[in-house]
Amino acid sequence: MNYKIAVIPGDGIGPEIVAASVKVLDAVADKFDHTFDYTEVLAGGAAIDACDTPLPQETIDICKNSDAVLLGALGGPKWDNVPGDKRPEAGLLALRKSLGLYANLRPAILYEELMDSCPLKAEIIGDGLDIMVVRELTGGIYFGEKGRDGENAAWDIMKYSRPEVERIARTAFTIAMKRGKKVTNVDKANVLEVSRFWRSIVEEVAKDFPEVTLNHLYVDNAAMQLVINPKQFDVIVTGNLFGDILSDEASMLTGSIGMLPSASMSDGKFGMYEPIHGSAPDIANQNKANPIATIVSVAMMLRYSLDLNDEADAIEAAVKKTLAQGYRTGDIYSEGMTMVNTVEMGQKIIENL
Ligand code: IPM
Ligand code: MG
Repeated sequence: MNYKIAVIPGDGIGPEIVAASVKVLDAVADKFDHTFDYTEVLAGGAAIDACDTPLPQETIDICKNSDAVLLGALGGPKWDNVPGDKRPEAGLLALRKSLGLYANLRPAILYEELMDSCPLKAEIIGDGLDIMVVRELTGGIYFGEKGRDGENAAWDIMKYSRPEVERIARTAFTIAMKRGKKVTNVDKANVLEVSRFWRSIVEEVAKDFPEVTLNHLYVDNAAMQLVINPKQFDVIVTGNLFGDILSDEASMLTGSIGMLPSASMSDGKFGMYEPIHGSAPDIANQNKANPIATIVSVAMMLRYSLDLNDEADAIEAAVKKTLAQGYRTGDIYSEGMTMVNTVEMGQKIIENL
């Protein structure tokens, strides 16, 4: 089959990890007889430099005309003094919004091979970890009205509408049905009206999924539970800001933020796939970055957007095998392992495909 993929390398380590991932996709194409047509487009800092906007219209159009989007990472200190609405990050938010990508799926899986890199004690982590964070991505405080009264005050409004909560809750329950059938809703309903509203709608949606167990945690408690008893979690559903924070926390339980992929989905099969880590400007252009988060994001892309399950399984198996062989980038290195760079890690994974 022939598939159209929009590719946004982005800033910092973005181009390096995307290049390694595209090579893996090419290897999948060879092995399984597919054709992937890539169109490279600009967003973030690279787009600011080239076209004076973090999100050119052409990028939106090309993404909309593709089967899926692969994104590296956006932003960096170079653009720190750009006004807020023109920052690289604003381009990413506008891209998510204009593509309708409201459901951000962030799996936190601790590979057996990386047990040593997990910062938690063995008795807490047991035989591993498999949590799916379902983060609402196009609403909440990220997109609410914002303002500033000169030097005196500033505000960002956290607002959710009924359809926004319903659809993300439905996504979480649907995913839970294919996993451990447990959803933990995370909010701040002891303080925030928006959270009380959110929680009541999650409870309504839960009635359509009688097989799924639902519980609620306040976000402060959830942050604590993730480190004292992470194995209680199956699917976590939460709003945009809380999901941003908790998914970084969950990612570190898997050894390194350099391991975690993400999918941002709309209603259909279309999605954007990116590692959850940032552009790591401190190690950019040094061939040091861990490409695994992006490579397993590609596996998610094959599975969710292109229905290529065997191909996705093959990538994940190759990553596991490479880790089992002892190859490690610096972020997941431990004594006795073989240190490799970005390009070598990509090559080893391809060899194992
Ligand atoms: C993420 C990032 C983004 C977010 C930033 C770069 C705008 O932290 O994808 O988690 O806050 O959503
Ligand atoms: Mg984040």
